[in-house]
Amino acid sequence: MPKQVKNPDFLRQLSVEQLQTALIEARTATQAFLEHWRILTHDPRAKLPLHVEWNLPEWEAGHIAWFQEYWIARNPDRSAGLQVNPDTPRLASLIANSDALYHSSEIAHDPRWSLPFPEPEELKHYLDQGLEGTLTLLREVSACDDSSQLKAALYFFRLALYHEDMHAEAASYSMNHYLHDVGQRWEAGEEEIEMITSFTYASVFSEMPFKPRLQEGGRSEQRMIQAGERQFGALPEMGFAFDNELPPFTQWLPSFSIDATPVSVAEYYAFIQAGGYQNQSYWSDAGWLWKSQQQAELPRFHRLNAGHLERCCFGNWHVVREDSPIVHITAYEAEAWCAWAERRLPSEHEWTTAAAEQDEFNWGQVWEWTQSDFLPFDGFIAHPYQDYSQPWFTGHRVLKGASFATHARMRNPMYRNFYLPMRNDIYSGFRTCAR
Ligand SMILES: [Fe+2]
Repeated sequence: MPKQVKNPDFLRQLSVEQLQTALIEARTATQAFLEHWRILTHDPRAKLPLHVEWNLPEWEAGHIAWFQEYWIARNPDRSAGLQVNPDTPRLASLIANSDALYHSSEIAHDPRWSLPFPEPEELKHYLDQGLEGTLTLLREVSACDDSSQLKAALYFFRLALYHEDMHAEAASYSMNHYLHDVGQRWEAGEEEIEMITSFTYASVFSEMPFKPRLQEGGRSEQRMIQAGERQFGALPEMGFAFDNELPPFTQWLPSFSIDATPVSVAEYYAFIQAGGYQNQSYWSDAGWLWKSQQQAELPRFHRLNAGHLERCCFGNWHVVREDSPIVHITAYEAEAWCAWAERRLPSEHEWTTAAAEQDEFNWGQVWEWTQSDFLPFDGFIAHPYQDYSQPWFTGHRVLKGASFATHARMRNPMYRNFYLPMRNDIYSGFRTCAR
């Protein structure tokens, strides 16, 4: 089982051998997810309805295979790494019409639900054969020993791996959401549900023991961070970087005090009990509009049962531990909680600094909302996969950290996740700073 690592930099510098193992592991998880999804939805009554937060697993798996093939086997200039012209003419795909089926930049979300997908066996074959092709080309890279040349030659292999990992986490959101919404109406055998749940935990989730740092009264311990000049963004020696982590820069950061742990269920429950969802004065205009439209009275996938807060996790309802972090929170709810508790969300730079400098800064169980809009760093240049960051620089918010469903090799305090503030199907929580 992957564990969080103290120094995650090396995970951005996976060698040829490490990449081989990781690519095989990621593809095995993708295939297993697809197979379990097929079993889960073999009953036509369990058909997945079109939903803005979901991609069809058939589409998602094909897209993963397509992405890897598009940037590696079909890309004759792949060894140029970041210098590749994104529009360079591609070689033939293993399957007909793969660009028309799986090119995420060109196929909007809704039409993805009505495409003429390949038969299940053909899709499985595409995933298998695609990986074989990738591994063959990766073996050729090992012949090159100049370090800058090697970095360029490995760029797309690393990108394709992280892309597959990100989709694995997204698949777990879909599975969780699906089993909550549809699974309840579907008469699945207990054995099947158990298999899906155990698969999801075993293959996708990293086990992260959560050690809350709570003071008496249930509030988090505080960490004081001294003012000073800090370095942000990815330095060249750190290895692979996403375009939105570049270029690196230094910035003066005033001192601040931040929670040593994300806001717990007990702390959030106190806000619910204090009428937090009924008091407009705690909410931003956008937040109150969201709350009113959704008629939200609790975090999503939660319910109150005999005075206990329960959460639906992969179709199973269970009482949540009071000292665990609250999850499935929108940025609006996080801000309303802060207004009630007279706290504030950290900026992304405050979070990054505290995570880098504090030994006991419990992170990795839930993604954590920040107050920072997702914006390019000064001097941003889009990388060849131009739609990774650039289209999302409006309206999205930065989340830091990682969730229990994030693969260990994706966990890095430098990483900038981003979502619209109303998203709550993701494993999102928050921590706070003193005002
Ligand atoms: Fe993708």
